[in-house]
Amino acid sequence: MSLRYRRRLDNMNVPQHVAIILDGNGRWARAKGMPRNYGHAQGSKNVERICEEAWRMGIKYLTVYAFSTENWNRPKDEVDALMSLLRNYMKTCLKTAAKNDMKVRVIGDISRLDEDIRKRILELEEATKENGGLNFQIAINYGSRDEILRAVRRIADDCIAGKIKTEAIDEEIFEHYLDTHDIPDPDLMIRTSGELRLSNYLLWQLAYTEFYFTDVPWPDFTKEELLKAIEQYNARDRRYGGVKEEKQNV
Ligand code: IPE
Ligand code: IPE
Ligand code: MG
Repeated sequence: MSLRYRRRLDNMNVPQHVAIILDGNGRWARAKGMPRNYGHAQGSKNVERICEEAWRMGIKYLTVYAFSTENWNRPKDEVDALMSLLRNYMKTCLKTAAKNDMKVRVIGDISRLDEDIRKRILELEEATKENGGLNFQIAINYGSRDEILRAVRRIADDCIAGKIKTEAIDEEIFEHYLDTHDIPDPDLMIRTSGELRLSNYLLWQLAYTEFYFTDVPWPDFTKEELLKAIEQYNARDRRYGGVKEEKQNV
């Protein structure tokens, strides 16, 4: 990390948790006259780079959206290519996680994934669970509405079984049932490639998160772009429903 870069970072409050909607792989590839799947392959390499950079910058939690519950609607050959990328990624990730001391968790409903991918996910989570580096969450077959519904079903089951009382259900208890339990809410959400929507990402968890949108497509999103997002985050005034404290003139 260059000294100039380090200085820019030293004066900043680095968000503890950054959530990313990595979008634009397909358009990026098309613009180069390449197939969409080439964009996905390059995009997945960029995930590795950004994980390392994020940790160097002092980010403790990084959550990326890799495949949504709606992405099954894509053409079969694209879904197959994405699944085979994920399959390979799980293997590479096992090595990178060991190297970088990263703790990996997959959020989303993995029951719909092929058995071998599920097995790799469980291996990866098990192998990295004691690691003390970056907490890296990958959202696969993730949809926020689906996550909330799965949580509601489990809470209802626990109520029927007499494990909890309906009146005891508060935000804290509800969060235990979400895929993101024990992970602090994101401070900053970044979406690449120009779309200004959430596409069913972390609807509960992003309640008070700052949003940053950029036109840069995911394969071109570098550490410099990440730094820009953090700089903009620093210029924001987070309030959580309160009022801005006036500086006292003394
Ligand atoms: C993001 O890139 C990756 C996934 C959703 C899997 P896209 O595939 O959505 O790329 P665009 O948005 O079509 O360019
Ligand atoms: C959101 O991107 C999902 C992921 C990045 C995995 P999409 O490209 O699927 O979202 P829409 O369809 O443009 O809303
Ligand atoms: Mg897209």
